[in-house]
Amino acid sequence: MVPKKIFAVGGGKGGVGKSFVAGNLGIMLAQSGYNVILADLDLGGANLHTWLGVDNPTKGLSEFIEREVLDIENLLIPTKIPGLSLISGARDGVEIANLKHTQKRRFLSALRQLDADYIVIDLGAGTAYNTVDFFLLADSQIMVVIPEPTSIENAYRFIKNSFFRQLFHNSKSFGLKSAVAPILRKDNQHHVNTPPKELINYLRMLGGSAAVFVEEQLSLFTPRMILNQVRTERDKLVGPSMEKACLKFFNLNVEFLGYIDHDEAVRKSVLERKPLSVAYPDCTPMRQLRSICKAIQQAEPEKAAKNKLMTQLTL
Ligand SMILES: Nc1ncnc2c1ncn2[C@@H]1O[C@H](COP(=O)(O)OP(=O)(O)OP(=O)(O)O)[C@@H](O)[C@H]1O
Ligand SMILES: [Mg+2]
Repeated sequence: MVPKKIFAVGGGKGGVGKSFVAGNLGIMLAQSGYNVILADLDLGGANLHTWLGVDNPTKGLSEFIEREVLDIENLLIPTKIPGLSLISGARDGVEIANLKHTQKRRFLSALRQLDADYIVIDLGAGTAYNTVDFFLLADSQIMVVIPEPTSIENAYRFIKNSFFRQLFHNSKSFGLKSAVAPILRKDNQHHVNTPPKELINYLRMLGGSAAVFVEEQLSLFTPRMILNQVRTERDKLVGPSMEKACLKFFNLNVEFLGYIDHDEAVRKSVLERKPLSVAYPDCTPMRQLRSICKAIQQAEPEKAAKNKLMTQLTL
């Protein structure tokens, strides 16, 4: 059996096309003959069911967390696309407060037990802990960005917040967070303005293994990026330049996967309440998404290597 892979699609800003990418990626993989589950973890605004033409779900993540549903298989909702099922994040009117890390892990490991080749998670906007944690717990992290300053700014924030969430989680027992929190504050006296790069420099100055630990954590965090809604030649440059900037200023490896044109067919398909891959399978954005999908599939599973590297941290 093909090893199960979990992709999470996030990116900070609202309305950039995360659900469009996650949904069509899921359909594309199902159309290639794989067994796919789309997990709608936009907990405040789940709407993949509408997009897929299925009724309002009566069960979702909340029922699993509350242990009203014990077998995750009972959350699977069949769709009209052969090979594709849906899991809904939350029912309308059911609030999901910040989930505990163990609850998120339990859900993810239950997802992994399901009979599927790929699981694609659609995340909501913002950098709430639930969103960032589901992003980090996936095997592959995909960010959707559009070539506009607000989206770019939010994407950088999303990357930084995700990285520090991972760093502090993995260094919990060493107390790294309380040691570095004061120097990450805006008014710090140590000129740590573009963490994590300057943070590493600062920790190196202090000695100990903290700098090596942070570097190692950086090497384990390799989100990928899709540039959506591209209209001009100039727009296309945003992807590669963000990739370079992340490396130069943050020491972060963000892999640019490719761009997708802004195309009226996308809006038309939404108005027709049909996924683009069903309504207009041969349009340019679908072609572009197909080659991005291939690149994602070919990428090595990173998660297996993760957690193996773990420098003994001393402060
Ligand atoms: N490549 C594109 N070309 C044209 N329109 C697009 C494209 N991608 C997305 N859109 C439009 O942007 C709208 C928002 O897309 P989508 O719902 O996927 O964003 P989102 O990031 O999931 O938003 P949210 O943060 O609210 O969940 C869609 O209704 C669609 O019409
Ligand atoms: Mg969405």
